[in-house]
Amino acid sequence: MSESQFRKPTSRRAFLGGSAAAAVAVGAGAARAAGPDPLITEVQDWAAGLGEGVDATPYGLPIRFEDDVIRRNVEWLTADTISSINFTPIHALDGTITPQGCAFERHHSGAIELRKEDYRLMINGMVETPLIFTYEDLTRFPRENHVYFCECAANSGMEWAGAQLNGAQFTHGMIHNMEYTGVPLRTILEEAGYNGEGKWVYVEGADASSNGRSIPMEKALDDVLVAFKANGEALRKEHGYPVRLVVPGWEGNLWIKWLRRVEVTDAPVESREETSKYTDTLADGTSRKWTWEMDAKSVVTSPSPQSPIPHGPGPLVITGLAWSGRGAITRVDVSKDGGRTWETARLARAGEARALTRFYLDTEWDGSEMLLQSRAMDETGYVQPSKAALREVRGENSIYHNNGIQTWWVRESGEAENVEVS
Ligand code: MTE
Ligand code: CO
Repeated sequence: MSESQFRKPTSRRAFLGGSAAAAVAVGAGAARAAGPDPLITEVQDWAAGLGEGVDATPYGLPIRFEDDVIRRNVEWLTADTISSINFTPIHALDGTITPQGCAFERHHSGAIELRKEDYRLMINGMVETPLIFTYEDLTRFPRENHVYFCECAANSGMEWAGAQLNGAQFTHGMIHNMEYTGVPLRTILEEAGYNGEGKWVYVEGADASSNGRSIPMEKALDDVLVAFKANGEALRKEHGYPVRLVVPGWEGNLWIKWLRRVEVTDAPVESREETSKYTDTLADGTSRKWTWEMDAKSVVTSPSPQSPIPHGPGPLVITGLAWSGRGAITRVDVSKDGGRTWETARLARAGEARALTRFYLDTEWDGSEMLLQSRAMDETGYVQPSKAALREVRGENSIYHNNGIQTWWVRESGEAENVEVS
């Protein structure tokens, strides 16, 4: 865009520097300018010409100034990017809905490209009529809309032995929360003549790993969805296009992407993904198995290591996310002193079952350092435990289901670091 003819030939940078230095901090963090602010008094580039036409962006991406709000990997964890994981930038998001474009991905054999036309879903095993559905067939059943979080059982798994990764994105970013549109699995089982005999379903994907898992029939008939839309649009390739399973409140590994088969069985299959993986070995050598439900958990997303406090003492918004696989979040407490004292945070909206809840603590920061923590409670009365309490029961051999309380050490400079308090 060309320079405005109305614009004075002053260097904008020099002007800005001068004005910033002259600004006086007042009350609620606003600044009263001591001199004229060229951002207000000068005609700016963006007002001196025309913007882009409506044909410039048939499908929009975030503006380039936000290009750091992206999925990231942990390099030492991601030696092989095909069978790997990346993390949602939860430190930079607000509200509760995760845009598909930055929602974490976890693939055991890479994200595959499967056309709707080539899609088939088989229902077999203990049903009266084994059936095969096309994508279009699925769209002819009555469908439902629900918001649910999907959390990988390994979320926070690198933190079992101590504070390790420096950022909420890395410690807690194996989670996303979307509005799904789909058909209840119950409807499809009934269509195939499920007669109450089979006690389990075995579900698998069309990718090379297939990621097969067994799900008890009680859950399969309850709230499991065969979903084909997320946040109103088609699933992205990496989230299982064209169809994935949504298993509310249960570990992400059960949320089969590129869903191709549901077999009704009388017993669990005991597949790799539910025996050698997604099972936790305890200190005494025994293992916890069938740990499907995700326990109540929370994390302060800002301030946090990737989202330091950018201002001095005064009003500060502390915010974060809370969730529970057992139902709605009813309360979140925040501590500034490593768990000695707690204040109850404000929930942005009443908690919804098996979906992310946003909390805020609108506070006055005195400029001194803080040991920030959050602690979630759900509708069953469950309270998120400390890491020490968790380790006492589970030992340190676990990878999965670490829902211990996270601590950020916020310095006087506003910068934050991942630490543990004892
Ligand atoms: N489904 C298939 N077919 N293949 C996979 O590798 N990964 C599972 C699950 N479903 C996987 C799969 C795991 S471990 C998780 S945590 C979730 O998908 C992640 O879903 P996302 O990639 O949409 O975030
Ligand atoms: Co997972």
